Amino acid sequence: MSKFDPEALRAAAESHRQKTAMGSSATDQLAPNGSQVVEAERNQSRPVDLRTRYMGLWLRNPVVASAGPLSQTVDGIKSLAAGGVGAVVMYSLFEEQIRHEAARETALAEQGTESFAEALSYFPTAPSNDSGLTRTYLELIEKAAPVIDVPLIASLNGSTTGEWTQNARRMQDAGAAAIELNVYYVPGDITTAAREVEQRYLDILDEVKSRVGVPVAMKLSPYLSSFGKMAQALDAAGADGLVLFNRYLQPDIDLDQMAVLPGFGLSTQEEAKLPRSWISALYGRVNASLAATTGVETVEDVVKYLLAGADVVMTTAALVRHGSDYAGQLVDGVQSWLTRRQLDLSRARGLLAVPSNADATQYARSGYISGLERAKKIYAR
Ligand SMILES: Cc1cc2nc3c(=O)[nH]c(=O)nc-3n(C[C@H](O)[C@H](O)[C@H](O)COP(=O)(O)O)c2cc1C
Repeated sequence: MSKFDPEALRAAAESHRQKTAMGSSATDQLAPNGSQVVEAERNQSRPVDLRTRYMGLWLRNPVVASAGPLSQTVDGIKSLAAGGVGAVVMYSLFEEQIRHEAARETALAEQGTESFAEALSYFPTAPSNDSGLTRTYLELIEKAAPVIDVPLIASLNGSTTGEWTQNARRMQDAGAAAIELNVYYVPGDITTAAREVEQRYLDILDEVKSRVGVPVAMKLSPYLSSFGKMAQALDAAGADGLVLFNRYLQPDIDLDQMAVLPGFGLSTQEEAKLPRSWISALYGRVNASLAATTGVETVEDVVKYLLAGADVVMTTAALVRHGSDYAGQLVDGVQSWLTRRQLDLSRARGLLAVPSNADATQYARSGYISGLERAKKIYAR
């Protein structure tokens, strides 16, 4: 079992930063006795400080690997960390998988193997004889967390309250620095009232928060009737971070197969506009950290999210397309962009958010009207 120590990481990051600024020949012994000349040189070439506080954790930079396929092995997690990210969010452990395993164990213990398949027919995941998904996940945290130099965040993904959320505690005990709670809940029953949907988010958060001491971020859907109010309610209920947004993988219709197929595919840069708008609207209005996810491909995409007010910017798509080392390029690019603009990160963050004294509804509406007016001029015949 390992405990993540943010102060140790901070000290290590500072030491690394100083060494980088002083050149590769610098050693720890040199620093305390370093001459004024060395200090002056360091000040001149000092890179912009990208250290970022996310949910109370210190990260070396704001680029984070979001939950995805690259964190399924120790080597994958090590590559992500070595690639330069500030933190790694692991792929999700799903409520359905946990319930599936629990039901399997109960069925095997109580009724014998014949009734096992019937007992599991409720669960949407493919029935499996592998009862080790949860164990594998926890072992992965135990093995990976101590061998990387950035926080490892575990991801729990579900849509109801219940015993399954106990696994948040197990993730913490295995060494996760924080929990990302993904409530992917599409109210398919069309009679479900908005209040019921919202209450469900709050209940799940409440249950997970009561089980752990580490920070909990909620990964959310944008499809709530008043998203801002919901974000505020989750903030007040103790969410340490809000991750905007889950991609709703809309199913498609395949005309050859005459079948409905699940949605699939990596996000596009265009899709960043929705989360960016909401981050911009929430910046300075909630205590929770704000994490952006969706639509990151280039340095400019990361910078735009930071200017909108994101504390961290997550990506899976860019790392899948270009490899884990691409994170380092994004980080260097953000560094260069800030240097060129003579901005430090704290001044850049939220610089283009909805101004704190603005009427945010009017702000959005005037953006909408001026956008339409511009489009009318461009497309007029
Ligand atoms: C192959 C793949 C697997 C993913 N697995 C998970 C997952 O297990 N849990 C989760 O919360 N998000 C998962 N995501 C969503 C990402 O974390 C991210 O939110 C989404 O891809 C949008 O960001 P991006 O397109 O900029 O990477 C997955 C995405 C991809 C492409």
